[in-house]
Amino acid sequence: RWGCGCPASWGRTMGQETPAVAPDFTCPALLPISLIATLNLGQLKELEVPRLGHSDVHVKMLAAPINPADINMIQGTYAILAPLPAVAGNEGVGRVLEVGPGVTALRPGDWVIPADAGLGTWRTQAVFPEASLLQVPSDIPLLCAATLSVNPCTAYRMLADFESLAPGDSVIQNAANSGVGQAVIQIAKATGIRTINVVRDRPDLPKLVERLKALGADHVITEDMLRKPEMKEIFKVPRSAQCCGARSSKLLAASCHAHMGLGTHLGEADLTSCFLQSAFIFRDVRLRGFWMTQWKKDHAHDKESLSSMMDTLCQLVQRGQLGAPACTTVPLEDFKEALVASTQPFTSSKQVLLL
Ligand SMILES: NC(=O)c1ccc[n+]([C@@H]2O[C@H](COP(=O)([O-])OP(=O)(O)OC[C@H]3O[C@@H](n4cnc5c(N)ncnc54)[C@H](OP(=O)(O)O)[C@@H]3O)[C@@H](O)[C@H]2O)c1
Repeated sequence: RWGCGCPASWGRTMGQETPAVAPDFTCPALLPISLIATLNLGQLKELEVPRLGHSDVHVKMLAAPINPADINMIQGTYAILAPLPAVAGNEGVGRVLEVGPGVTALRPGDWVIPADAGLGTWRTQAVFPEASLLQVPSDIPLLCAATLSVNPCTAYRMLADFESLAPGDSVIQNAANSGVGQAVIQIAKATGIRTINVVRDRPDLPKLVERLKALGADHVITEDMLRKPEMKEIFKVPRSAQCCGARSSKLLAASCHAHMGLGTHLGEADLTSCFLQSAFIFRDVRLRGFWMTQWKKDHAHDKESLSSMMDTLCQLVQRGQLGAPACTTVPLEDFKEALVASTQPFTSSKQVLLL
């Protein structure tokens, strides 16, 4: 259960202790109070923002997406949960307003994104520790910055770490119209890797196919088309696959060829058990899970890996090779509609709160 109430710690990172300092001002933030299934999805509260500490950064939040992990957190089903009450939102971008005297790398006007999950981004202003933030260029499109730290990073890591891919190799993915999927298509295209993209059938399929091809998709097919014999020709090539969703992933595994890595970025209880035994036993298909949050934890002291990934992604954005996913922007006040919309199938558009 998500609690309500408004302690003086609002405006700080979830789960972190807050010094007892007098608040300067208040700002609205989104406070979920009950399960998503009830459609009573949260509250906007005026929260106290504490004075700036020595190593703190006062941030005006600009935009924050609603990702599946945010919904899972609100539902209480995610692998990490914030102590309640908490401000929701794991991703977003903000502009630095003011920095504490001990802040070394950030200045007013800089754009920042969360260094890790759990920051509580669905609010208008906040005071965060400098260490919880990463700087991004302030000349990239707002929606790119707001959606950079989760899906493009996940896509990048899965393409870079799962199999040794070279230009001309192919990968196959389902949920290709998701935020992750769109990032996979664009990053793969920029690095010469071909993509076979599986989406669920829908009335406006031709429009979606056209949109994904415009991003650089080589093939866009439906799950039903996956089963057709002629698809075998296409599936001779892929070296790596990314998947989410049990039924859909099973179809992907059935299509995989020998000695192929199959990565999954969705924690689903029945995912591993659903795979065809024949894929594992007779074709040596290997399944590997991935969690961006864990990768960041594992590389907390490896600043080089993190900054190299972020630099590469920002350069792709600046060169016009990596755009934001298709988005619907929504004022914070309309968060309930946005939360409901984010849980609907076949929308192909990420809800982004404007803060
Ligand atoms: N492990 C990690 O580190 C990590 C990081 C980022 C994302 N993820 C996961 O990756 C997935 C995509 O995230 P996102 O932010 O890119 O999502 P998103 O933009 O909100 O899109 C959701 C996608 O999931 C598809 N989908 C929903 N239910 C499905 C099902 N039962 N079978 C097949 N496809 C289904 C939707 O397809 P339709 O259009 O057909 O409804 C849509 O393409 C989520 O499950 C998310 O939790 C994991």
